[in-house]
Amino acid sequence: MRAYVLRHYGGPEAAQLMDVAAPTLRPRDLLVEVRAAGLNPVDFKFRRGMLRVILRPKLPFVLGNELAGEVIAVGSDVKRFRVGDRVFARVAKERAGAFAEQACIDEDDAAHMPPNLDFTAAAAVPLAGLTALQALRDELDVKPGLKVFISGGAGGVGTFAIQIAKWLGAHVTTTASKRGEALVRSLGADEVIDYTAQNISDREDRYHAGFDLVGGKTLDQMFKIMKPGTKVVSVAALPEPQTAIRDLGGRRALAALFWLISYGIRSRARRAGIRYRYLFMHPSGRDLAVLAELIEQGKLKVIVDKKYPFGEIAEALDYVESGRAKGKVVVTFTP
Ligand SMILES: NC(=O)c1ccc[n+]([C@@H]2O[C@H](COP(=O)([O-])OP(=O)(O)OC[C@H]3O[C@@H](n4cnc5c(N)ncnc54)[C@H](OP(=O)(O)O)[C@@H]3O)[C@@H](O)[C@H]2O)c1
Repeated sequence: MRAYVLRHYGGPEAAQLMDVAAPTLRPRDLLVEVRAAGLNPVDFKFRRGMLRVILRPKLPFVLGNELAGEVIAVGSDVKRFRVGDRVFARVAKERAGAFAEQACIDEDDAAHMPPNLDFTAAAAVPLAGLTALQALRDELDVKPGLKVFISGGAGGVGTFAIQIAKWLGAHVTTTASKRGEALVRSLGADEVIDYTAQNISDREDRYHAGFDLVGGKTLDQMFKIMKPGTKVVSVAALPEPQTAIRDLGGRRALAALFWLISYGIRSRARRAGIRYRYLFMHPSGRDLAVLAELIEQGKLKVIVDKKYPFGEIAEALDYVESGRAKGKVVVTFTP
């Protein structure tokens, strides 16, 4: 089968389209004919080797973290799916493999696609949608009436985060450039700050929960506009010890490393009276079913910025790497 394969860590030349053997079905697996796959910043970060401290699969390795497709075989222990089902999934991180004509996924990571989505839109949901849901619902405990600040609202995660925070009943302020303003407003953002024209820390408003999708100076500015005692969850800055303990299976050596690299951020957060948490989202068919229901009820829209044929996946990844996507980027397979 055709697949987009990482041969060594590096720039765009490190990955290429090639023929590889089809994946082997395990008892709890679904074998899926992939019809569309979503792209995410983690794909180029992984290709560059930025995740090597956490994930070290044997190379060559088929890239790709989320997909939508049709089940063409099921393992002997599979309970919830049948051949012919239309499914979507954020695949297991150590397995990846979504950028290929066929992929094997654990049934716990998959959910049935909402009937009102095509494969292209469905492939855009899992990774970014689950990240937003897990951060806002589980980590930030967003409730009606809370004022939530989301940095970077116009990208893949942001377009889901704005809508999920609104669904949870929050008042939402987000940052976007002029290029993204109309989009984030259309998704329900109550207030939009043009980050190219205004420093976030000049705001007089104070927020109950912060979700950071940008990192760097933006995160530091966010600490200054949160109410004391509140929490900021980032998925774009640096991991901290809880990331290793709660998201990466309690690896002690990693917790120590993360303690060291996040020392500066945690000190600045502590001085502002804020709790800092870096979340690594986790695959979850159960959470994906929550998103599927919201989509089916018309409460969650999927924003696909661009779609490319699978043969142009390198161009698609270049576009994601530009950092300018408005919503999601997807590759599609024929038919
Ligand atoms: N830890 C995890 O589990 C996890 C999961 C998902 C994502 N992430 C990370 O979260 C980050 C966001 O992911 P994504 O998929 O949303 O990325 P993305 O789709 O590539 O984000 C692109 C968007 O970000 C906007 N943007 C760029 N710089 C900005 C800034 N300084 N302030 C506000 N907006 C800015 C751009 O708008 P303009 O072009 O208009 O500037 C563009 O619309 C990435 O670093 C990704 O790796 C982590």
